[in-house]
Amino acid sequence: MDAVRIYGGKSLSGQTRIQGSKNASLPILAATLLIDGICEIENCPDISDVYHMLRLLESLGCQVSREKNHIRVDTGGVAAHDMPSDSVGVMRSSIMLLGALLARMGAVSMEYPGGCVIGKRPIDQHLCALRRMGVEIVEGREEFCARASKLHGAVHELPFVSVGVTENLVLAAVLAEGETVIHPAAREPEIQALCEFLLKAGAEISGVGTDRLVIRGVKKLHPVRFRVPADRIVAGTYLTACLCAGGSVFLEDAPCEQMQSVLACAERMGAGLTVWPDGLFVEGRACNRLEEVLVTEVYPGFPTDLQSLFMAAMALSGQGGQIEETVFENRFRIVPELCKMGADITVEGNRAHVRGGGPLHNTIVEAKELRGGAALVVAALAAEGTGIVRNRHFIDRGYEDITLSLRELGADIELA
Ligand code: EPZ
Repeated sequence: MDAVRIYGGKSLSGQTRIQGSKNASLPILAATLLIDGICEIENCPDISDVYHMLRLLESLGCQVSREKNHIRVDTGGVAAHDMPSDSVGVMRSSIMLLGALLARMGAVSMEYPGGCVIGKRPIDQHLCALRRMGVEIVEGREEFCARASKLHGAVHELPFVSVGVTENLVLAAVLAEGETVIHPAAREPEIQALCEFLLKAGAEISGVGTDRLVIRGVKKLHPVRFRVPADRIVAGTYLTACLCAGGSVFLEDAPCEQMQSVLACAERMGAGLTVWPDGLFVEGRACNRLEEVLVTEVYPGFPTDLQSLFMAAMALSGQGGQIEETVFENRFRIVPELCKMGADITVEGNRAHVRGGGPLHNTIVEAKELRGGAALVVAALAAEGTGIVRNRHFIDRGYEDITLSLRELGADIELA
């Protein structure tokens, strides 16, 4: 079955290594299109979103080989610029190939990536910004065609911070004529990793890690070997597993320096955290003394991708809390499923009020998307009885093997 079975009510004890970052790997794989030759990407997570990205690169003529977390991409044979709709539709991150393909091939045709349960996920800002760089875009009902004989730099004063738009513009700008300014640029660590990959390949980028990126186009980039940093969202996921179930765990390679807002929230909720050079030691159960108020924000604020995970922890903690989701318009799809487990959560617009205290009881629940699915698994660890989380394929998009990792942390969990 496409599910996970959890025998709840057991505290955790153990350690697991945090996988490479999904949201850093995807734009870096797209960036290999800018380099004529062979790039080696290390510590790439073995997840379905990466598989779909590799399929897209192969459909464009790249030679791709993979040994677990080590990926080799030879873009010497890139010839096509039409992307197969089955992969574009499955994975929104295909939009990230837009900027790189325009820079490499001068043309792209692709279906609209479409929305998902967490929001409409429009690409209007991507298209509007690329037009400023000399891209002609003809939009149809189902797909659009973009062409640019030569991309030129532009000053982008964006209406709001967008991770994907920032990534696409960086990819379009590194080989463009002239200088490109992106402001406000997203500052997520995944964008910093993309810039570090491109700098290593010979790009000229300044302002990395700030909200103002300046890219001076160069003639050519050269092949590189690059190691993807650890995934801060996966680390935060297993941190909340311990918050919910109690016990103590060690998260090897957890990128703590990228998780300050998450660690602060976890400590307010009762977690005992010790940051080590090689990872994060977590102990304790969610028992926040004060009602927690959590607002999702762009980096370095609290990440929207951990909102569902901390909602589960709040439902189990002493005083519960309030959550305001400011990034996506529909990211509370987990609420009905947590309520099936006995949680008491009310939603008003982009705010959720979580009454704490638990206990939760396990039952059959359904994952509707990636992070909500992971949050249901984490909640089930602390709930009474045996639970089933269906639609595991959503979780497999971003977690290498959530059952193996949680078993390493002492959970009683299995594929179902
Ligand atoms: C990236 O999505 C991540 N995905 C998301 O992670 C993450 O939640 C999000 O950034 C915010 O941090 C990847 O990196 C592959 P945005 P992205 O553009 O780039 C709106 C996960 O769980 N918008 O910063 O799509 C958009 O609808 C995933 O790993 C427009 O309106 O996020 C959203 O409301 C989920 N028009 C807001 O901006 C546009 O043209 C921020 O989205 C583009 C975006």
